[in-house]
Amino acid sequence: MPNLLTMNNLENDKIMNLLKRAEQFEKGEKASLDGAVVNLFFEPSTRTKMSFEMAEHRLGLSVLPFETAFSSILKGETLYDTVKTMEAIGVKAVIIRHEEEEYYQQLAGCKVAVINGGDGSGQHPTQSLLDLYTIHQEFGRIDGIHVTIVGDIAHSRVAKSNAAALKQLGAKVSFVCPEEWSGDYDTTDDLDALIGETDVVMMLRVQHERHAVSALFSKERYHIEFGLTEARERKMKKDAIIMHPAPINRGVEIADSLVECQRSRIFKQMENGVFVRMAVLEYAMKGRE
Ligand code: CP
Repeated sequence: MPNLLTMNNLENDKIMNLLKRAEQFEKGEKASLDGAVVNLFFEPSTRTKMSFEMAEHRLGLSVLPFETAFSSILKGETLYDTVKTMEAIGVKAVIIRHEEEEYYQQLAGCKVAVINGGDGSGQHPTQSLLDLYTIHQEFGRIDGIHVTIVGDIAHSRVAKSNAAALKQLGAKVSFVCPEEWSGDYDTTDDLDALIGETDVVMMLRVQHERHAVSALFSKERYHIEFGLTEARERKMKKDAIIMHPAPINRGVEIADSLVECQRSRIFKQMENGVFVRMAVLEYAMKGRE
């Protein structure tokens, strides 16, 4: 069965087929899949875990409960043995979020379908697909759209997944962040120079759990230098939209008042996540492309 581990090796036609299938689900098409799945989340999640669960229920799948805190992981069982156990008891697909980058390399010998729900600072393919779906829904295309990704680029699996996929689909992608968070990307620290010429302003969460932002900036200072303030929102193009994968640090990367403003697609992204994850589950479990 096909896995979905990273956006790096996903061809354009495969991406577009998944987006088309998500659109069919959004328009009310029903599908039914047989079998059991399990969501193995070793890092906290609200959106990814719950929207996968919603997608699984809508597809008629059996969802086996798994809580790290009550599992044999606490007795030292490895991820590989945990996944092999799921396979042995008849699970057809596992959705995994794990703090280790590329954790999935150790699962190469497993037959169960693996869907990556986020690996450390590596990739978050279903977030990228729902972001692409939201952009395509808004503009009717991705080719030629200017997307500015702002924030914690080096630590962000959302930035990495989206950078690869957006460029491959013909979007222009700019990166704005403090120099210390550039990673391997060509970035600028001047958001004001780009704000008026971008179609999508994609704000990233400052990942306090992965590094000490306070060593660089106070939250107030970060908001002034790199945040989407009300003044910056007023300089955006007429039809430009605001995106954010969430969870949101309100008042840090984005002004509280902009989270649900007319331009914001933040909660629409979450809604779209269910349709996209239905498409991904179907792809993984039926081999549909
Ligand atoms: N966007 C996202 O991955 O959110 P969660 O961490 O809540 O799943």
